[in-house]
Amino acid sequence: MRKTLVALLAVVAVFSFAALTRAQEVAQTPPMGWNSWNYFASKVDDKGVRAAADEIVANGMKDAGYIYVNIDDTWEGKRDENGVLHTNEKFPDMKALADYVHSKGLKLGIYSGPGDKTCAGYPASLGHEEQDAKMYAEWGIDYLKYDLCSFRQDVMAKQAPEDKAAQMKLMIAAYEKMGKALKGTGRPIVYSLCQYGWDAVWEWAPGLGGNLWRTTGDIQANWNSVYAILSQQEGLESYAGPGHWNDPDMLEVGNGRLNIRENRSHFSMWAMLAAPLLAGNDLPNMKPEVKEILTNKDVIAIDQDKLGKQAHRVYSEGEVDVWERDLAGGAKAIAVLNAGSDRYSTHPFHLSLAKLGLHGPQKGRDLWSGKDVTLSENMPIEIASHDILLVRIDAPRF
Ligand code: GLA
Repeated sequence: MRKTLVALLAVVAVFSFAALTRAQEVAQTPPMGWNSWNYFASKVDDKGVRAAADEIVANGMKDAGYIYVNIDDTWEGKRDENGVLHTNEKFPDMKALADYVHSKGLKLGIYSGPGDKTCAGYPASLGHEEQDAKMYAEWGIDYLKYDLCSFRQDVMAKQAPEDKAAQMKLMIAAYEKMGKALKGTGRPIVYSLCQYGWDAVWEWAPGLGGNLWRTTGDIQANWNSVYAILSQQEGLESYAGPGHWNDPDMLEVGNGRLNIRENRSHFSMWAMLAAPLLAGNDLPNMKPEVKEILTNKDVIAIDQDKLGKQAHRVYSEGEVDVWERDLAGGAKAIAVLNAGSDRYSTHPFHLSLAKLGLHGPQKGRDLWSGKDVTLSENMPIEIASHDILLVRIDAPRF
Protein backbone atom coordinates (compact mmCIF):
# COMPACT_ATOMS: atom_id res chain seq x y z
CA MET A 1 0.00 0.00 0.00
CA ARG A 2 2.76 2.35 1.06
CA LYS A 3 4.75 1.48 -2.06
CA THR A 4 1.75 2.23 -4.27
CA LEU A 5 1.30 5.60 -2.58
CA VAL A 6 4.95 6.50 -3.08
CA ALA A 7 4.77 5.44 -6.73
CA LEU A 8 1.60 7.50 -7.19
CA LEU A 9 3.19 10.56 -5.59
CA ALA A 10 6.23 10.16 -7.83
CA VAL A 11 4.00 10.07 -10.92
CA VAL A 12 2.12 13.18 -9.75
CA ALA A 13 5.43 14.95 -9.08
CA VAL A 14 6.76 14.12 -12.56
CA PHE A 15 3.57 15.32 -14.22
CA SER A 16 3.46 18.59 -12.24
CA PHE A 17 7.11 19.23 -13.07
CA ALA A 18 6.43 18.61 -16.76
CA ALA A 19 3.42 20.94 -16.62
CA LEU A 20 5.52 23.60 -14.90
CA THR A 21 8.32 23.42 -17.47
CA ARG A 22 5.77 23.59 -20.26
CA ALA A 23 4.20 26.66 -18.69
CA GLN A 24 7.64 28.28 -18.67
CA GLU A 25 8.32 27.48 -22.28
CA VAL A 26 8.41 30.67 -24.28
CA ALA A 27 7.19 31.48 -27.78
CA GLN A 28 4.57 28.75 -28.01
CA THR A 29 3.02 31.09 -30.58
CA PRO A 30 5.13 33.56 -32.61
CA PRO A 31 6.33 36.40 -30.34
CA MET A 32 4.45 39.68 -30.75
CA GLY A 33 5.60 43.12 -29.74
CA TRP A 34 7.57 46.10 -30.94
CA ASN A 35 11.25 46.67 -31.75
CA SER A 36 13.04 49.99 -31.88
CA TRP A 37 15.28 49.43 -34.92
CA ASN A 38 13.17 49.82 -38.05
CA TYR A 39 12.08 53.34 -37.24
CA PHE A 40 14.32 54.74 -34.50
CA ALA A 41 17.60 52.91 -35.24
CA SER A 42 20.31 54.57 -33.14
CA LYS A 43 17.91 57.24 -31.84
CA VAL A 44 16.27 54.83 -29.42
CA ASP A 45 16.45 55.87 -25.76
CA ASP A 46 14.83 55.17 -22.39
CA LYS A 47 12.17 57.81 -22.97
CA GLY A 48 11.26 56.43 -26.38
CA VAL A 49 10.98 52.88 -25.05
CA ARG A 50 8.71 54.02 -22.22
CA ALA A 51 6.61 55.96 -24.72
CA ALA A 52 6.30 52.86 -26.90
CA ALA A 53 5.23 50.78 -23.89
CA ASP A 54 2.66 53.42 -22.87
CA GLU A 55 1.31 53.55 -26.39
CA ILE A 56 1.03 49.76 -26.75
CA VAL A 57 -1.21 49.76 -23.70
CA ALA A 58 -3.20 52.86 -24.68
CA ASN A 59 -3.85 52.04 -28.33
CA GLY A 60 -5.14 48.48 -27.92
CA MET A 61 -2.01 46.72 -29.18
CA LYS A 62 -1.43 45.04 -25.83
CA ASP A 63 -4.98 43.69 -25.87
CA ALA A 64 -4.36 42.47 -29.40
CA GLY A 65 -1.35 40.44 -28.17
CA TYR A 66 1.71 42.72 -28.53
CA ILE A 67 3.72 42.02 -25.38
CA TYR A 68 7.46 42.37 -26.06
CA VAL A 69 9.02 45.83 -26.10
CA ASN A 70 12.43 45.22 -27.62
CA ILE A 71 15.41 47.52 -27.52
CA ASP A 72 17.62 46.86 -30.52
CA ASP A 73 21.21 47.99 -31.06
CA THR A 74 22.82 51.14 -29.53
CA TRP A 75 21.94 50.81 -25.83
CA GLU A 76 25.44 49.59 -24.96
CA GLY A 77 28.04 51.66 -23.09
CA LYS A 78 31.50 50.48 -21.98
CA ARG A 79 32.78 47.39 -20.21
CA ASP A 80 34.48 48.12 -16.90
CA GLU A 81 37.61 46.41 -15.52
CA ASN A 82 35.44 43.54 -14.22
CA GLY A 83 34.01 42.92 -17.65
CA VAL A 84 30.62 44.34 -16.68
CA LEU A 85 28.93 46.01 -19.62
CA HIS A 86 27.27 49.30 -18.72
CA THR A 87 24.50 51.03 -20.58
CA ASN A 88 25.24 54.30 -22.35
CA GLU A 89 23.77 57.69 -21.45
CA LYS A 90 20.58 57.01 -23.44
CA PHE A 91 19.63 54.29 -20.94
CA PRO A 92 20.42 55.52 -17.43
CA ASP A 93 18.90 52.57 -15.58
CA MET A 94 17.98 49.38 -17.43
CA LYS A 95 16.57 47.65 -14.35
CA ALA A 96 14.24 50.58 -13.72
CA LEU A 97 13.19 50.51 -17.36
CA ALA A 98 12.44 46.77 -17.13
CA ASP A 99 10.41 47.38 -13.97
CA TYR A 100 8.46 50.09 -15.75
CA VAL A 101 7.73 47.93 -18.79
CA HIS A 102 6.75 45.00 -16.54
CA SER A 103 4.44 47.26 -14.51
CA LYS A 104 2.45 47.72 -17.72
CA GLY A 105 2.05 43.96 -18.11
CA LEU A 106 4.60 43.94 -20.96
CA LYS A 107 8.00 42.30 -21.38
CA LEU A 108 11.38 43.82 -22.21
CA GLY A 109 13.79 42.63 -24.88
CA ILE A 110 17.41 43.53 -25.55
CA TYR A 111 20.06 43.07 -28.23
CA SER A 112 23.64 41.81 -28.45
CA GLY A 113 25.82 39.59 -30.56
CA PRO A 114 28.51 36.92 -30.39
CA GLY A 115 31.22 39.19 -31.80
CA ASP A 116 33.28 41.90 -30.20
CA LYS A 117 31.03 44.58 -31.67
CA THR A 118 27.38 44.87 -32.65
CA CYS A 119 26.38 45.88 -36.17
CA ALA A 120 26.27 49.52 -35.10
CA GLY A 121 29.75 49.20 -33.57
CA TYR A 122 28.83 48.99 -29.89
CA PRO A 123 30.31 46.39 -27.50
CA ALA A 124 28.86 42.88 -27.95
CA SER A 125 29.23 39.71 -25.90
CA LEU A 126 32.37 37.93 -27.16
CA GLY A 127 34.10 36.40 -24.13
CA HIS A 128 31.40 37.68 -21.77
CA GLU A 129 28.46 35.50 -22.74
CA GLU A 130 27.59 34.12 -19.30
CA GLN A 131 28.25 37.41 -17.56
CA ASP A 132 25.98 39.26 -19.97
CA ALA A 133 23.22 36.66 -19.82
CA LYS A 134 23.29 36.82 -16.03
CA MET A 135 23.07 40.59 -16.13
CA TYR A 136 20.11 40.48 -18.52
CA ALA A 137 18.33 38.10 -16.15
CA GLU A 138 19.08 40.39 -13.19
CA TRP A 139 17.67 43.33 -15.07
CA GLY A 140 14.54 41.33 -15.87
CA ILE A 141 15.09 40.94 -19.59
CA ASP A 142 12.66 38.59 -21.34
CA TYR A 143 13.98 38.44 -24.91
CA LEU A 144 17.42 38.55 -26.54
CA LYS A 145 18.14 39.21 -30.21
CA TYR A 146 21.66 37.95 -30.88
CA ASP A 147 23.15 39.40 -34.05
CA LEU A 148 26.17 37.86 -35.79
CA CYS A 149 27.80 41.04 -37.14
CA SER A 150 31.43 41.45 -36.18
CA PHE A 151 31.80 37.78 -35.20
CA ARG A 152 32.41 37.25 -38.92
CA GLN A 153 35.60 39.33 -38.84
CA ASP A 154 36.55 38.89 -35.18
CA VAL A 155 36.37 35.12 -35.09
CA MET A 156 35.26 33.36 -38.27
CA ALA A 157 37.62 35.06 -40.71
CA LYS A 158 40.51 35.11 -38.21
CA GLN A 159 40.30 31.57 -36.89
CA ALA A 160 39.35 29.82 -40.10
CA PRO A 161 40.38 31.93 -43.06
CA GLU A 162 39.39 30.33 -46.37
CA ASP A 163 37.48 27.52 -44.66
CA LYS A 164 33.75 28.21 -44.92
CA ALA A 165 32.68 25.00 -43.21
CA ALA A 166 34.93 25.63 -40.21
CA GLN A 167 33.63 29.21 -40.07
CA MET A 168 30.06 27.96 -39.90
CA LYS A 169 30.96 25.58 -37.08
CA LEU A 170 32.40 28.49 -35.12
CA MET A 171 29.23 30.46 -35.73
CA ILE A 172 26.98 27.63 -34.56
CA ALA A 173 29.12 27.11 -31.46
CA ALA A 174 28.81 30.81 -30.63
CA TYR A 175 25.02 30.65 -30.80
CA GLU A 176 25.06 27.50 -28.72
CA LYS A 177 27.17 29.23 -26.09
CA MET A 178 24.68 32.03 -25.62
CA GLY A 179 21.79 29.55 -25.72
CA LYS A 180 23.38 27.70 -22.78
CA ALA A 181 24.15 30.94 -20.95
CA LEU A 182 20.53 32.07 -21.23
CA LYS A 183 19.27 28.71 -20.05
CA GLY A 184 21.75 28.85 -17.18
CA THR A 185 20.09 31.99 -15.84
CA GLY A 186 16.92 30.03 -15.07
CA ARG A 187 14.86 32.94 -16.44
CA PRO A 188 12.59 32.25 -19.41
CA ILE A 189 14.17 34.41 -22.12
CA VAL A 190 13.12 34.25 -25.77
CA TYR A 191 16.25 33.57 -27.84
CA SER A 192 16.19 35.24 -31.25
CA LEU A 193 19.01 34.37 -33.67
CA CYS A 194 19.99 36.99 -36.19
CA GLN A 195 22.55 35.71 -38.68
CA TYR A 196 20.59 36.34 -41.87
CA GLY A 197 19.70 32.69 -42.52
CA TRP A 198 23.25 31.42 -43.01
CA ASP A 199 24.04 27.73 -43.15
CA ALA A 200 20.38 26.61 -42.99
CA VAL A 201 19.91 28.06 -39.53
CA TRP A 202 16.38 26.60 -39.40
CA GLU A 203 17.93 23.13 -39.18
CA TRP A 204 20.11 23.72 -36.13
CA ALA A 205 18.70 26.70 -34.24
CA PRO A 206 15.90 24.87 -32.38
CA GLY A 207 18.40 22.31 -31.08
CA LEU A 208 20.39 24.96 -29.26
CA GLY A 209 17.44 26.71 -27.73
CA GLY A 210 16.63 29.18 -30.51
CA ASN A 211 13.01 30.32 -30.48
CA LEU A 212 13.26 32.23 -33.74
CA TRP A 213 15.85 32.84 -36.40
CA ARG A 214 16.13 35.36 -39.17
CA THR A 215 15.89 33.67 -42.54
CA THR A 216 17.20 36.54 -44.69
CA GLY A 217 19.08 39.83 -44.73
CA ASP A 218 17.51 43.03 -43.40
CA ILE A 219 14.04 44.12 -44.42
CA GLN A 220 13.47 47.63 -45.78
CA ALA A 221 10.33 49.73 -45.86
CA ASN A 222 9.53 49.26 -49.52
CA TRP A 223 7.50 46.71 -51.49
CA ASN A 224 10.41 45.11 -53.34
CA SER A 225 12.13 44.26 -50.09
CA VAL A 226 8.96 42.90 -48.45
CA TYR A 227 8.09 40.81 -51.50
CA ALA A 228 11.64 39.51 -51.98
CA ILE A 229 11.76 38.35 -48.36
CA LEU A 230 8.32 36.77 -48.65
CA SER A 231 9.40 34.80 -51.70
CA GLN A 232 12.43 33.49 -49.83
CA GLN A 233 10.24 31.85 -47.17
CA GLU A 234 8.96 29.21 -49.56
CA GLY A 235 10.06 25.75 -48.52
CA LEU A 236 10.86 26.68 -44.93
CA GLU A 237 7.39 25.89 -43.61
CA SER A 238 8.27 22.54 -42.08
CA TYR A 239 10.78 24.17 -39.71
CA ALA A 240 8.26 26.37 -37.89
CA GLY A 241 6.22 25.22 -34.93
CA PRO A 242 5.41 26.03 -31.31
CA GLY A 243 8.55 27.32 -29.60
CA HIS A 244 10.60 27.73 -32.80
CA TRP A 245 9.80 30.05 -35.70
CA ASN A 246 11.21 31.28 -38.98
CA ASP A 247 11.73 35.04 -38.73
CA PRO A 248 11.40 36.94 -42.03
CA ASP A 249 12.41 40.06 -40.05
CA MET A 250 10.48 42.71 -38.16
CA LEU A 251 7.48 44.51 -39.56
CA GLU A 252 7.82 47.65 -41.63
CA VAL A 253 4.05 48.32 -41.44
CA GLY A 254 3.61 52.10 -41.18
CA ASN A 255 7.18 52.85 -42.26
CA GLY A 256 8.88 54.29 -45.31
CA ARG A 257 7.29 54.09 -48.72
CA LEU A 258 4.76 51.32 -48.06
CA ASN A 259 1.24 52.37 -49.00
CA ILE A 260 -1.90 51.13 -47.28
CA ARG A 261 -2.35 48.10 -49.58
CA GLU A 262 1.29 47.14 -49.19
CA ASN A 263 1.07 47.47 -45.41
CA ARG A 264 -2.01 45.25 -45.43
CA SER A 265 -0.36 42.62 -47.64
CA HIS A 266 2.87 42.68 -45.63
CA PHE A 267 0.97 42.17 -42.36
CA SER A 268 -1.30 39.48 -43.84
CA MET A 269 1.59 37.49 -45.25
CA TRP A 270 3.66 37.69 -42.06
CA ALA A 271 0.57 36.30 -40.27
CA MET A 272 0.28 33.53 -42.87
CA LEU A 273 3.96 32.72 -42.32
CA ALA A 274 3.47 32.36 -38.55
CA ALA A 275 6.14 35.03 -38.33
CA PRO A 276 6.97 36.96 -35.18
CA LEU A 277 4.89 40.14 -35.33
CA LEU A 278 7.23 42.85 -34.10
CA ALA A 279 5.95 46.24 -35.13
CA GLY A 280 8.77 48.60 -35.98
CA ASN A 281 7.05 51.94 -36.44
CA ASP A 282 6.72 55.18 -34.48
CA LEU A 283 3.85 54.16 -32.23
CA PRO A 284 2.98 57.50 -30.60
CA ASN A 285 2.60 59.05 -34.07
CA MET A 286 0.95 56.16 -35.88
CA LYS A 287 -1.80 56.89 -38.41
CA PRO A 288 -5.23 55.38 -37.60
CA GLU A 289 -5.19 53.21 -40.73
CA VAL A 290 -1.85 51.72 -39.67
CA LYS A 291 -3.19 51.01 -36.19
CA GLU A 292 -6.18 49.31 -37.78
CA ILE A 293 -3.88 47.00 -39.69
CA LEU A 294 -1.64 46.18 -36.73
CA THR A 295 -4.62 45.45 -34.46
CA ASN A 296 -6.78 43.41 -36.85
CA LYS A 297 -7.64 40.60 -34.45
CA ASP A 298 -8.77 38.16 -37.14
CA VAL A 299 -5.46 38.45 -38.94
CA ILE A 300 -3.53 38.19 -35.69
CA ALA A 301 -5.51 35.03 -34.91
CA ILE A 302 -4.09 33.49 -38.10
CA ASP A 303 -0.56 34.33 -36.97
CA GLN A 304 -1.15 33.07 -33.45
CA ASP A 305 -3.04 29.93 -34.41
CA LYS A 306 -2.25 27.19 -31.91
CA LEU A 307 -1.35 24.63 -34.56
CA GLY A 308 1.66 26.76 -35.48
CA LYS A 309 1.73 25.63 -39.12
CA GLN A 310 3.37 28.08 -41.48
CA ALA A 311 1.68 28.80 -44.82
CA HIS A 312 3.00 27.51 -48.11
CA ARG A 313 2.61 28.84 -51.62
CA VAL A 314 0.22 26.58 -53.51
CA TYR A 315 0.58 28.17 -56.92
CA SER A 316 1.29 31.38 -58.79
CA GLU A 317 -0.14 32.65 -62.01
CA GLY A 318 1.81 35.53 -63.42
CA GLU A 319 2.30 37.91 -60.55
CA VAL A 320 -0.58 36.57 -58.45
CA ASP A 321 0.39 34.19 -55.66
CA VAL A 322 -1.96 31.87 -53.78
CA TRP A 323 -0.88 30.72 -50.33
CA GLU A 324 -2.69 28.55 -47.84
CA ARG A 325 -2.29 27.84 -44.16
CA ASP A 326 -3.81 25.04 -42.12
CA LEU A 327 -5.32 26.19 -38.86
CA ALA A 328 -6.41 24.46 -35.68
CA GLY A 329 -9.75 22.67 -35.79
CA GLY A 330 -9.51 21.89 -39.51
CA ALA A 331 -9.85 25.53 -40.61
CA LYS A 332 -7.83 27.09 -43.43
CA ALA A 333 -6.61 30.53 -44.37
CA ILE A 334 -6.18 31.42 -48.02
CA ALA A 335 -4.26 34.44 -49.26
CA VAL A 336 -4.40 35.69 -52.83
CA LEU A 337 -1.71 38.31 -53.33
CA ASN A 338 -1.36 40.52 -56.36
CA ALA A 339 2.34 41.27 -56.34
CA GLY A 340 2.20 42.97 -59.72
CA SER A 341 0.52 46.02 -61.18
CA ASP A 342 -0.80 45.11 -64.60
CA ARG A 343 -3.93 43.07 -64.04
CA TYR A 344 -7.32 44.71 -64.56
CA SER A 345 -11.03 43.85 -64.60
CA THR A 346 -10.81 43.00 -68.29
CA HIS A 347 -8.67 40.04 -67.20
CA PRO A 348 -9.28 39.34 -63.51
CA PHE A 349 -7.52 36.53 -61.70
CA HIS A 350 -9.51 33.28 -61.60
CA LEU A 351 -9.04 31.35 -58.38
CA SER A 352 -8.63 27.60 -58.74
CA LEU A 353 -10.07 25.90 -55.68
CA ALA A 354 -9.15 22.53 -57.17
CA LYS A 355 -5.46 23.45 -56.94
CA LEU A 356 -6.09 24.04 -53.24
CA GLY A 357 -7.67 20.61 -52.93
CA LEU A 358 -11.08 22.17 -52.29
CA HIS A 359 -14.32 21.27 -54.05
CA GLY A 360 -17.63 23.09 -54.11
CA PRO A 361 -18.42 26.53 -52.73
CA GLN A 362 -16.39 27.50 -49.67
CA LYS A 363 -17.95 29.71 -47.05
CA GLY A 364 -15.48 31.99 -45.35
CA ARG A 365 -14.75 35.43 -44.03
CA ASP A 366 -12.78 38.17 -45.75
CA LEU A 367 -10.52 39.24 -42.90
CA TRP A 368 -10.01 42.79 -44.18
CA SER A 369 -13.60 43.70 -45.07
CA GLY A 370 -14.90 41.62 -42.17
CA LYS A 371 -17.63 40.31 -44.47
CA ASP A 372 -18.74 36.77 -45.22
CA VAL A 373 -17.65 35.53 -48.63
CA THR A 374 -18.21 32.35 -50.60
CA LEU A 375 -15.34 31.24 -52.79
CA SER A 376 -16.26 29.19 -55.83
CA GLU A 377 -14.29 27.34 -58.48
CA ASN A 378 -12.69 29.60 -61.04
CA MET A 379 -14.31 32.73 -59.62
CA PRO A 380 -12.97 35.99 -60.98
CA ILE A 381 -11.19 38.03 -58.35
CA GLU A 382 -9.98 41.54 -58.86
CA ILE A 383 -7.26 42.61 -56.49
CA ALA A 384 -5.56 45.98 -56.71
CA SER A 385 -1.83 46.16 -57.24
CA HIS A 386 0.08 44.93 -54.17
CA ASP A 387 -3.18 44.19 -52.36
CA ILE A 388 -4.41 40.93 -50.93
CA LEU A 389 -7.54 38.87 -50.38
CA LEU A 390 -7.24 37.03 -47.08
CA VAL A 391 -10.01 34.56 -46.31
CA ARG A 392 -10.55 32.27 -43.35
CA ILE A 393 -12.59 29.16 -44.02
CA ASP A 394 -13.66 27.45 -40.82
CA ALA A 395 -15.15 24.35 -42.42
CA PRO A 396 -13.45 23.74 -45.77
CA ARG A 397 -15.07 21.26 -48.16
CA PHE A 398 -12.69 18.84 -49.82
C1 GLA B 1 21.56 44.15 -38.21
C2 GLA B 1 20.20 43.48 -37.96
C3 GLA B 1 19.13 44.54 -37.83
C4 GLA B 1 19.47 45.47 -36.68
C5 GLA B 1 20.85 46.08 -36.90
C6 GLA B 1 21.30 46.85 -35.68
O1 GLA B 1 21.61 44.80 -39.44
O2 GLA B 1 19.91 42.58 -38.99
O3 GLA B 1 17.87 43.94 -37.62
O4 GLA B 1 19.43 44.75 -35.48
O5 GLA B 1 21.82 45.08 -37.17
O6 GLA B 1 22.60 47.37 -35.81
